[in-house]
Amino acid sequence: MLSAEENQRLTRVGPGTPMGELMRRYWHPIAAASEFDDYATKPVRLMGEDLVLYRDRSGTYGLVDRHCPHRRADLSYGFVEDCGLRCSYHGWLFDEIGNCLHQPYEDVVSPESRFKERIHLKAYPVEEKAGLLWVYLGPQPAPLVPTWEPFTWDNGFVQIVFSEIPCNWLQCQENSIDPVHFEWLHANWSKVLQGTSGPYAATHLRLAFDEFEYGYVYRRITEDTDETNPLWTTGRVCLWPNALFTGSHFEWRVPVDDENTLSVNWAFARVPTDQEPYKQDRIPYWHSPIKDEKTGRWITSHIMNQDFVAWVGQGVNSDRTQEHLGRSDRGVTLIRKQFVRDMNSVAEGRDPKGLIRDPELNHCVELPIIGREKYKDGITREELLRHRAQNAELIPGANVDFPWQVGQPDEVRKAYAEAMGL
Ligand code: FES
Ligand SMILES: [Fe+2]
Repeated sequence: MLSAEENQRLTRVGPGTPMGELMRRYWHPIAAASEFDDYATKPVRLMGEDLVLYRDRSGTYGLVDRHCPHRRADLSYGFVEDCGLRCSYHGWLFDEIGNCLHQPYEDVVSPESRFKERIHLKAYPVEEKAGLLWVYLGPQPAPLVPTWEPFTWDNGFVQIVFSEIPCNWLQCQENSIDPVHFEWLHANWSKVLQGTSGPYAATHLRLAFDEFEYGYVYRRITEDTDETNPLWTTGRVCLWPNALFTGSHFEWRVPVDDENTLSVNWAFARVPTDQEPYKQDRIPYWHSPIKDEKTGRWITSHIMNQDFVAWVGQGVNSDRTQEHLGRSDRGVTLIRKQFVRDMNSVAEGRDPKGLIRDPELNHCVELPIIGREKYKDGITREELLRHRAQNAELIPGANVDFPWQVGQPDEVRKAYAEAMGL
């Protein structure tokens, strides 16, 4: 149980707040590069700041203030040129570091006043990696955008899925270190939702939580497993500071503001060895709904949708003064303490946990991965089909093509099936 003050301190991410300052030390994925094949500007809100992400005609990305410094017009309605973003109200032009390059009328009538040199638009760095656009809102020198090991794998079909979650980011991240929920929120609830009343999934007998350089690992033994099972020997990863990593997919919980979170799912599917070599030309992206418009209720059919139900159900900002933590919640307590240590580190001018600054190390950052060989070396189509059948058994009714989130567009499903040779 936390005090109301501790709860606030851990969850608020606006500029100048301790957690906001901490989260600004990390790169955050906020969009897919392929989105900018469809439009050039995108309004985004991140940690309480209203911004515009754009790609200009030379392919340079920028993340700048939503409002033009002239008279505050909305720059997401600006238009891009060969270099930079031009405000559609009076035509001021800006580059990706926030310089004002052109003030059409001022440049004609009083070029000698050099007015534009005194204008600066707030701008943050953007980098593309693994089909995602990463942004950094913290002080320089920025750390590196992590090259997590799966970003280096070949022969994969990747898709990026976004959902907007109307609650604070921290309760989403606390779910990343909560092994027991899998048994109930996913396995057992799915059975009930499918109309079967049992038998329930094997119950958890033992848990372990270990810190490592880039987060925490949680390990479990259930009634049907023992100490030789990879879920115990390797475990799953709560990736610092705001992601879950399961081996084939990442889920980032990106703070939009104190009351909203962007869920970013980067999902990798290794094509069967029969399909090699496979090269994906474009990583597709799509938005997954979370509410059933007919009933006004949250969607419950897919794994991450079930997670979303749990998160939003805790309230916009979970009232941690009212909770009762047990032994299953040791991981939750561990990460809260780590966040407090990290906020203190930042306040004292030190780096928080898990930043990567060494380019040598960042060629490929290894993480604990169950079944690494399966992803790196691949399996045959026959093995894949067997695996899918087992999955369908584990989570009844789960869409085995994409069990994570509802609403996969047909063209993505088709491209996936083609890549996988299904
Ligand atoms: S408000 Fe943007 S150019 Fe005038
Ligand atoms: Fe979950």
